[in-house]
Amino acid sequence: MNGLNISNDTSLFEVPAVLNAGGKLTDHCAREAVDKIDTYGFVIFTDLLSHEEADAALDMVRQAADDPERNLCTFASETDNRYKRRDFCSLPSTPFLNSFAGTLCQRLEGVISEYCRPSHRLLEAVTLTSYLGSSHQYFHRDPPNVLSFFAAFEDVSEDQGGTVFVPGTHKYAGVEKRHGGLGLELMDLFMVWSNIHVFRHNFRKLWDMRKGRGASLAPGEFRDRVFSTKWDEYQPNILRFLTNRNTHLSLNTFGPRTLRDLYRHRAAIRDNFHIVRTAPRKGTVIVFRSDTIHAGPDNRSPNPRRLYGMSISRDIIDPEYLFDGYSPHPSLIAQPLTFGDLLNFPPLTVLPKAAEQLEQIPAE
Ligand SMILES: [Fe+2]
Repeated sequence: MNGLNISNDTSLFEVPAVLNAGGKLTDHCAREAVDKIDTYGFVIFTDLLSHEEADAALDMVRQAADDPERNLCTFASETDNRYKRRDFCSLPSTPFLNSFAGTLCQRLEGVISEYCRPSHRLLEAVTLTSYLGSSHQYFHRDPPNVLSFFAAFEDVSEDQGGTVFVPGTHKYAGVEKRHGGLGLELMDLFMVWSNIHVFRHNFRKLWDMRKGRGASLAPGEFRDRVFSTKWDEYQPNILRFLTNRNTHLSLNTFGPRTLRDLYRHRAAIRDNFHIVRTAPRKGTVIVFRSDTIHAGPDNRSPNPRRLYGMSISRDIIDPEYLFDGYSPHPSLIAQPLTFGDLLNFPPLTVLPKAAEQLEQIPAE
């Protein structure tokens, strides 16, 4: 994205997953990961899932996305969903999904239990697919007090749009004292600065599409993404910007004080924060605090980008607001699951490819 400094180097945030004989992260590995989450707000586990496990989970995700009765997520851009630019849907609580989610929790127990108690609720399990022409999300924080996960079941290229994070922007006691006592203020200004670029990027791309460059627009799509009155927080919607109906970026954002602070603190904003673009390989799992500033980029490739997402509360949440910002499948609401339940599910058993093929050869 023009004008923003985005690094593709994620090595500082990665921990190669090493499992002990019990199938859990080794103590050393878990400690290293907790240290990264506490420092940066997220960690990237490489090779946490075997290729066979990723293939099996990818089948589940594809089946869910192909189901005409699927439950579309409420937090996603509904306009992107409508024009098949994204397909974010929640996953039903099947035995396979429960085993898969259980396996993730069991392997990562040494990390998750630093933040979540066994009684804390699973808020959602979702599949996040984006296609060419999707919009770049605005930089944002998810609702607080949640630990979230993204798993890649196939390699995600930079162009396909792995999640971007701003390291060190999670909220914890005392964070406001950082950066000379301007910690939270500078983070908010950085978000405004970045979102100006996101708006411009999304609008330019749509304009290019309108001119026949890039993905082709569907009838009415340009109008719906730029001038619609319908609720959508993820589009370069000029009407909703001017009428202050977009919480991420609107005319109200640019009061005289914000403009002054953007100018006055421009060097601090530039020097203290940077954006990191992930491109998770098959079997990678990203764990992040929901209050870390992040965004889901647009997909700039012809290949769909698929991710699995999951969130567990890491504090008590008022029941009235439990699912605010999350999209649990009706089956998860009917039969709630906790982190403790997930630890007790039978782990996923996926045969290695060679053994699977041998099993399929009929006995003579
Ligand atoms: Fe988010």
